[in-house]
Amino acid sequence: PTLITPKANESSYITKMKASGRNIVVFYGSQTGTAEEFAGRLAKEAARYGMKALVADPEECEMEDLCKLSEINNSLAVFCMATYGEGDPTDNAQAFNEWLQSGEADLSGVNFAVFGLGNKTYEHFNAMGKYVDKRMEELGGTRVVEAGVGDDDGNMEEDFLTWKDKFWPAVLDFFGLEMNLQEISMRQYRLVMPDVPSDKLFTGEIARLRAYQTQRPPFDAKNPFLAQVIAWRELHKGGDRSCMHIELDISNSKLRYDAGDHVAVYPVNDPLLVNRFGELLSTDLDTPISLVNIDEDSSKKHPFPCPCTYRTALSYYLDITSNPRTHVLKELAEHTSDPEEKEKLLKMSSSSVEGKELYQQWVLQDNRSLLHILEDLPSCKPSLDLVCELLMRLQSRYYSISSSSKVHPESVHITAVLLKYTTPTGRVNKGVATTWLASKQPSSDQPLHQVPIFIRKSQFRLPARPQTPIVMIGPGTGVAPFRGFIQERMKMKQEGKPVGDTVLFFGCRNRAEDFLYEDEFKECIDDGLLTLHTAFSRETPGKKVYVTHLLKEHGEYIWRVLGQENGHIYVCGDARNMARDVHDIIVDICSNYGKMSVSEAQTFVKKLETQRRYSADVWS
Ligand code: FAD
Ligand code: 2AM
Repeated sequence: PTLITPKANESSYITKMKASGRNIVVFYGSQTGTAEEFAGRLAKEAARYGMKALVADPEECEMEDLCKLSEINNSLAVFCMATYGEGDPTDNAQAFNEWLQSGEADLSGVNFAVFGLGNKTYEHFNAMGKYVDKRMEELGGTRVVEAGVGDDDGNMEEDFLTWKDKFWPAVLDFFGLEMNLQEISMRQYRLVMPDVPSDKLFTGEIARLRAYQTQRPPFDAKNPFLAQVIAWRELHKGGDRSCMHIELDISNSKLRYDAGDHVAVYPVNDPLLVNRFGELLSTDLDTPISLVNIDEDSSKKHPFPCPCTYRTALSYYLDITSNPRTHVLKELAEHTSDPEEKEKLLKMSSSSVEGKELYQQWVLQDNRSLLHILEDLPSCKPSLDLVCELLMRLQSRYYSISSSSKVHPESVHITAVLLKYTTPTGRVNKGVATTWLASKQPSSDQPLHQVPIFIRKSQFRLPARPQTPIVMIGPGTGVAPFRGFIQERMKMKQEGKPVGDTVLFFGCRNRAEDFLYEDEFKECIDDGLLTLHTAFSRETPGKKVYVTHLLKEHGEYIWRVLGQENGHIYVCGDARNMARDVHDIIVDICSNYGKMSVSEAQTFVKKLETQRRYSADVWS
């Protein structure tokens, strides 16, 4: 048989743009969908300014063709680029990043604009957006407008709106076009009522139909493994919060992991919330639907696996609990009959100062989800298929694996705090994944629960030599990967290997309530492996003791490990405050005990980071 491979050019975005009269291409580097959503919004808006745009995934494009963009009149390449992890590109932008770095391209005559998405909590804030902006210019491109920098720790939506307010006028000005706004509300997907047998409907699979009935390795993000929950126990001994220890069976999966890796879980939304959509929008949730992209050139045919029922989409595929972005409010306004309610939605979606303030207050601060908005604005009645188009995809949640594969090759352990809090409107919000995981306890009269997972490799690793001393700083659930590290060092010690100092700084509120894995750690102390320093923040009223205080007390020892014994230091847990404070204290310690100036100490710590002797596994 002859193998027919499509020529790259046939599907090239340049060819597509020429054929369909488009002048703008919006690329996205997206990990969780936000950058992709922003790209889609820009493309949609182009039509309002009398232009036509194509959204493109760099992973599916020959980026070398970028130099041909100048063959199209008044053309522009826009990049919505998220930064991930330690200043890295997202998975789908990795090849593009390498191509930019290689410096082979001549991009003279290529007009470009960049909006970067990042989070100020992390050190390499917006590194990818900044790099693309700088590099495109170095390679000969022409910047049409100053790059935008979105900060997810602040208000990313507002940053984007503010940038867009500069972006469109700059584009029009650059091409010498008149501002001639056309009010068009365009659907990106059209609703099709499929006539298919029920076994052709997706029921929560991520990519392949019936993937959960016939599991086939290799397992990854697109093809998760259904792991059985073989153990589940509460780790807190008191108090009103909950922290779960969960063991997932990975035997027969061919999945491998190392201590320090992450496991990702695909959760399912709370059925009570899903049902509310059916009630509020008077729609039968068991109706099969398919949403089909109106733009036939788009590589994305459906927003989520279709056909499926509304119930499946709302349970498995859509993020129904986050705060909606402003363009969603704008669409909702079109379907709101009460003038006051409509006005409110329009105001929040405008880029006026009062509008932004109202959005900040009423949606973000008051923490309203789309459901809350439908409840509080009773005349807002969008169709459920529009709602399904507007909501973002439900994301998998990551957990730092809390076991060692050397000790538990056939299972992956998770240590997760149940998230539950009351919002300013008096509603109780529950974390999607942790609430779902909380219901997965094995019971004798039921088959074991199953959880779709995949493993993500990390750089968070034990030193190669067991003799190397390690200092681990992990308050709260930040202790998770260190339980794995400690298990592994314990095994090495039992095998008679020479194991270096193994020191853990752990912090929690109260010894009697949330001291995680106390008994296990005690055994490791008794066996002579572990040195444990504990900080209890709420035991003595008025006196917070944090791991950071203990680090200061042990400054001399920490310097010996880092400065003299070639040791490794690790921090895991809260990125917002704890990891930053720890970083600053380590710099102080190096400065004090290593007799360096502050800037020398900073350089020293930077060097530890590049040598992977100072590693952080943090989240916010
Ligand atoms: P969601 O439904 O996702 O809700 C979380 C959101 O609710 C937050 O983003 C925030 O916007 C909002 N929110 C939370 N608290 C409040 C509040 N008090 N007031 C207002 N809004 C609030 N978690 C662990 O427990 N253990 C781990 O080992 C672990 N490891 C991680 C490793 C990595 C690399 C990453 C990225 C995250 C890790 N997490 C870990 C966090 C975990 O992925 C989830 O974010 C967490 O379990 C919450 O998920 P959820 O679906 O239950 O909550
Ligand atoms: P707190 O909640 O009483 O403020 C795990 O979350 C532990 O980390 C808790 O005891 C918490 O104390 C503590 N913690 C909070 N902020 C911290 C910080 N910036 N540095 C170190 N520990 C912190």
